[in-house]
Amino acid sequence: MSRGQVGTRIQVPDELREVLLEFTISYLLEQPGDVVTYASDYFTRLRESRTTAILYDQEVAESVSPDESTLSREEEPPIGRFAGRRKSVFAETYNPEEDEDDDGTRIVFPKSDEQRQQLAEAVRNILLFRSLDKEQMQEVLDAMFERKVQKDELVIKQGDDGDNFYVIQNGIFHALVASDPSEEPKHIHTYENSGSFGELALLYNMPRAATIKAVTEGSLWAMDRQTFRRILLKSAFKKRKMYESLIESVPMLKTLQPYERMNLADALVPRNFSNGERIIKQGDAADGMYFVEQGEVVISVLDDSGKEVEINRIGKGGYFGELALVTHRPRAASAFCDGDVKCA
Ligand code: CMP
Repeated sequence: MSRGQVGTRIQVPDELREVLLEFTISYLLEQPGDVVTYASDYFTRLRESRTTAILYDQEVAESVSPDESTLSREEEPPIGRFAGRRKSVFAETYNPEEDEDDDGTRIVFPKSDEQRQQLAEAVRNILLFRSLDKEQMQEVLDAMFERKVQKDELVIKQGDDGDNFYVIQNGIFHALVASDPSEEPKHIHTYENSGSFGELALLYNMPRAATIKAVTEGSLWAMDRQTFRRILLKSAFKKRKMYESLIESVPMLKTLQPYERMNLADALVPRNFSNGERIIKQGDAADGMYFVEQGEVVISVLDDSGKEVEINRIGKGGYFGELALVTHRPRAASAFCDGDVKCA
């Protein structure tokens, strides 16, 4: 039997699982388009950040006391993807009920059938739109208008006030962030023909957090600030607030940068299961992954005689169901509830 194998079953090393999972979550959140380019970039950055961390640890170990070193390391972002914004991730202090600038006017930009179809396609995977009901979705689609952009155009400038939210129809866009105005902005993210941007300034009533530059010509769907706030603000806040403590309590998710955490909260949906219920079934195609908010989940595999054999138990703060997403293979095990279970 070769190393790493038990019978015919392959053992997945913990580190491989963690690294692939973090990569998968980053990819799913950022939806950058080409997976290979993104992977190459991601792992290069990961290796660089590890090398820096090792060098940093060596320096620290030589020069400061252990207490001081722990403090400084915690302030370092694990991967420098979303540096420059570490404050109140979920803006606890902001109350959307006290919103000031909604006069209730419903905006409608007429569209051709073809435009409607294109728009419906473009918004299909926009996480912020997931919790809208049919009527709200209609209002959102009515209010969006097309904006063509030229190569090298700055669609959003860091520090400006927020006017519109944008959904990409096509084109390649770079997000750039300068940690202070005198610095050269750093490229932190690429949007390739899909995705959205410009939600932060509108959600949190703050200046634009990044510059968005068109690197090809392209086409965007824009939504004005008032419509965005009237329709999306409350649902987005509710969800972000709801999942704040979950995200804080899952060790692996703590390493996500603030912007990624917010996007993750948008992507989560609640799922409740009763005692004994099967959540995922070995052999099925993967639909998503699960974080346990409450209760206990038993992971089991079928033995040769077709009997379920328990191989793991997952409690609050744990997760399961990620492997099939990473490997694109059927579920490697089943998950059953031991008592009632609440997942995200
Ligand atoms: P907003 O601040 O309104 O305008 C700039 C946009 O860049 C921002 O909303 C986000 O949609 C987008 N963006 C992409 N990556 C980041 C990031 N790491 N931090 C902040 N904003 C980002």
